[in-house]
Amino acid sequence: MIRQAAVPLLFFSALLASGCAEPKTASGINGVTPVHLPDVRTPVQLDADARQEHRAVMLQHLETVQAIVAALADEDYRLAQGLTETHLGFFMHRHAMARQQPENFPPAYHDLAMAHHEAAEKLADAMPSRDLKQILPEFNKVLKACVACHLEYKLRSS
Ligand code: HEC
Repeated sequence: MIRQAAVPLLFFSALLASGCAEPKTASGINGVTPVHLPDVRTPVQLDADARQEHRAVMLQHLETVQAIVAALADEDYRLAQGLTETHLGFFMHRHAMARQQPENFPPAYHDLAMAHHEAAEKLADAMPSRDLKQILPEFNKVLKACVACHLEYKLRSS
């Protein structure tokens, strides 16, 4: 009985998975890049220490984004501003670059990094408005800058 029901169910899942249910565009469903794209990212060669440092900064970036969202949910705009400035702004950039062999990153990587820090400074500036209609579009730009770089670069050729 169960096995009989499983066959149409499997067929239906296969249909869903093949994308019949959702219209897809070049940029994926609802603007999200599909997971299984060919990997065309440019590798940046770093030694083990610099790689470790880069990873620590990235993990902290994600944690900072989480903490900013938590602060916004608490309506603590001052904390949200401080976190954004300290951990995502130009201050963070100088700190990270001092430890990550900046000469090993291509100029275009630096441009993406600077665009990201600039977006973060604008987000920090929007925080005192206490208005999510002003804050969220700037937050979106920061996250777009994270995504833009992740689509272009990876740390090794594997
Ligand atoms: C200028 C480029 C750039 C920007 C901007 C950037 N990243 Fe990254 N990030 C990278 C690269 C390169 C990697 C390594 C990817 C790889 O080797 O597969 C990475 C890896 C990561 C990882 C995985 C770390 C691990 O455990 O290996 C996380 C999480 C991450 N980034 C979060 C963020 C967040 C959040 C932001 C924005 C607030 C951000 N990144 C902005 C370049 C960037």
